[in-house]
Amino acid sequence: MRKVLISKAGSPEVLKIVEQERLVPNKGEVTIRVQNAGINFADLMMRLGIYGKQAPPIPFTPGYEVSGVITALGEGVKEFEKGQRVAAVTGINGYSQEVNVPVKQVVSIGDDVSFEAAAAMPVTYLTAYHMLVELGNIKKGDTVLIHHAAGGVGTAAVQIAKAYGAGTLFGVASGSKKEFVENLGVRFIDRDKEDFVDVVKKETNGAGVHHALDPVGGEHLKKSFKSLRSGGKLYAFGGSSFVRGPKIFKLTALWRLLRSPKFSPLNMIGKNKAIFGVHMGTIKDMDLMRREIEALVLMLNEKKIEPIIDSVFHFEDVVKAHYYIHNRKNRGKVLLDFS
Ligand SMILES: NC(=O)c1ccc[n+]([C@@H]2O[C@H](COP(=O)([O-])OP(=O)(O)OC[C@H]3O[C@@H](n4cnc5c(N)ncnc54)[C@H](OP(=O)(O)O)[C@@H]3O)[C@@H](O)[C@H]2O)c1
Repeated sequence: MRKVLISKAGSPEVLKIVEQERLVPNKGEVTIRVQNAGINFADLMMRLGIYGKQAPPIPFTPGYEVSGVITALGEGVKEFEKGQRVAAVTGINGYSQEVNVPVKQVVSIGDDVSFEAAAAMPVTYLTAYHMLVELGNIKKGDTVLIHHAAGGVGTAAVQIAKAYGAGTLFGVASGSKKEFVENLGVRFIDRDKEDFVDVVKKETNGAGVHHALDPVGGEHLKKSFKSLRSGGKLYAFGGSSFVRGPKIFKLTALWRLLRSPKFSPLNMIGKNKAIFGVHMGTIKDMDLMRREIEALVLMLNEKKIEPIIDSVFHFEDVVKAHYYIHNRKNRGKVLLDFS
């Protein structure tokens, strides 16, 4: 069996393919032979060594999510059987031909859900669902501002907002993704050429949006806050602006982190606006996670959502896959193939 290892902090070349022993599941775990593993932007940040305490010490195998087939059951596992097709939230270790996962983090997938779709969903759709539905209580007609609208979480957020009958969706992305974003039924905003606060205000008669999803972080949060209407909700859930490129620029990351705004509760009261901090990796309530996963599986079966997969790289090409995302090429989700 082989797996990908972040051998040290640095550019994508630090990702190495290494041999690993066959796994034996612990009590309450299953072993999954991985078919596909999702790549998340957080993996790039972990590889760069700028993900803080939410990442394990390097060296380690990244990979938040997988799809595959159960090959072994740990003691006491009654919920699954060998040979079952599943998707799982792994936390780490997903970039591997084999992974052990506690049963609470595993869901069965129907025969008509592809392994690719199943691996593309757990993190992106859970994050978008948690923000818009669980925290945001999104309602019919609500307006939503989505940054990195063409990316993994971005496309998931678009579909979930639509499934809940949202009104105008504003999607910010690189200019080359205009057509792709517009085809999703979203009002495209060019991140380099337009001021998203101006566009949003202008097209909501000066009011602003009900929900703003901000994975950019730093100073950018101020503008997302500004684009909210009274009663609006801002979700701060990332720090893509701390990444300057495929190499380590720790000072840039630190500088941008230091420029993060300090929101005053008094100001928020006066403006009737809310800010949620969201990190799916630190949510401890596994029952909540399970409910959210089950709601998403239902939406998938009802064809209300359908993951958009940009590309699937063989795991030996993981270096190329990370560069692909650094170069802002992806439209939808990027996966690794471990079959
Ligand atoms: N808090 C959580 O639990 C959680 C969970 C999932 C994801 N996230 C965050 O959500 C964001 C999106 O995650 P994702 O996995 O779905 O990734 P993604 O959006 O598919 O990521 C790639 C896209 O991000 C944009 N981007 C912005 N800054 C970039 C930079 N410095 N370098 C390269 N690309 C950059 C690019 O699109 P454009 O050029 O078109 O903007 C790029 O195509 C990330 O910030 C991630 O950390 C947070």
